[in-house]
Amino acid sequence: MLRHRLDACLNIRDLRDRARAALPSPVLGYLESGADDEYSLDRNLGAYRDYELLPRFLVDVSHIDTRTTVLGVDVELPVLLSPTGMSRLFHPAAELAAARAATASGTLYTLSTLATETIESVAAVAAGPKMFQIYVLKDEGLNREFIQRSREAGYRALCLTVDVPIGGNRETDLRTGMAAGTPFPWSSRLSFVTHPRWSLSRLTGPAFALANIGHRTLGERAGLNEQMEYVFSQFVPTVTWDDAASIAREWGGPFAVKGIMSAADARRAADIGATAVIVSNHGGRQLDTVPATVDCLAPIVDAVGDRLEVILDGGIRRGTDVLKAMAMGARACMIGRPYLYGLATAGEAGVTHALDIFRAEIQRDLALLGCPRLTDVDHSFVRRARRGNT
Ligand code: GLV
Repeated sequence: MLRHRLDACLNIRDLRDRARAALPSPVLGYLESGADDEYSLDRNLGAYRDYELLPRFLVDVSHIDTRTTVLGVDVELPVLLSPTGMSRLFHPAAELAAARAATASGTLYTLSTLATETIESVAAVAAGPKMFQIYVLKDEGLNREFIQRSREAGYRALCLTVDVPIGGNRETDLRTGMAAGTPFPWSSRLSFVTHPRWSLSRLTGPAFALANIGHRTLGERAGLNEQMEYVFSQFVPTVTWDDAASIAREWGGPFAVKGIMSAADARRAADIGATAVIVSNHGGRQLDTVPATVDCLAPIVDAVGDRLEVILDGGIRRGTDVLKAMAMGARACMIGRPYLYGLATAGEAGVTHALDIFRAEIQRDLALLGCPRLTDVDHSFVRRARRGNT
């Protein structure tokens, strides 16, 4: 039955429709919304239409190879899972399900600082390559602890998110009670009642907690709201590149700086010895009216493409989006909402299905592009769309 329902999801948009039906409105709002007027959220999605793929024909495409290497890790698929907060909101199996699906699909999973499962429990169920995501927090001991635990649990890379000096203005969450310290209005409460499957699974499942942070707050019994308030109190607006450099040094392994939008910042990341920059605007959830991430890619690749890997995050919904990014010099892409749609729909099987959709689309698109090997996709396969009569 479940398999049948998933098979009916032909693309990420179909999975999104299923997720929308499964989730109560405040949770759906947390997943779907962006900052302010959601200009950047919309642009992330729409900007891929401004690029066109240029196929070649009479090429032997009987064998398609989607493998690549990113952050020192061999992956079967250039679609990595981005760090996303609080996955238990979307399914009781939470980060464990997403990490298992990534392992089964041969790709890299990134565990968020704001995860609801621990660094160690994810490592115990998912043997595939994993990255841990951190912020620079006021509690220096916590970052040191994260680095040590990630190393001991066999995480292959560390990712530093730099685009949250303070929280973005997410008005949907303020209205629905999903922002820390805001109460649930009646409309949100009603939506929990009208989604009994979701509500029951939360009531009967494990307590909701920020699993890697809870012990630093008001004690193990602190509620989610107290934990979230603790996290927000931890963002320090005085953080600079010197802090990033010392974290990179302390980690000593593959290191990605996530949230880069300019060539100047990408150069600074290269200067501190980063392995990769992740071009991202936090899914349009931080500063609104910043450009679509795909529009920032080419200048960053030009500036630092010979010094580090450039990974693109933001608005990826189709295999063609991935190929456009790769053609413009990205080493790989990252997805957030697309895999969470799968998670909300059917747990691990849903995340696997989201990755299967990307795999099938990328394989088909490589054949249609006349470029059987993913790593051969270069700038000759893409151009900016020309408007009008030109
Ligand atoms: C967390 O990073 C979020 O964007 O909700």
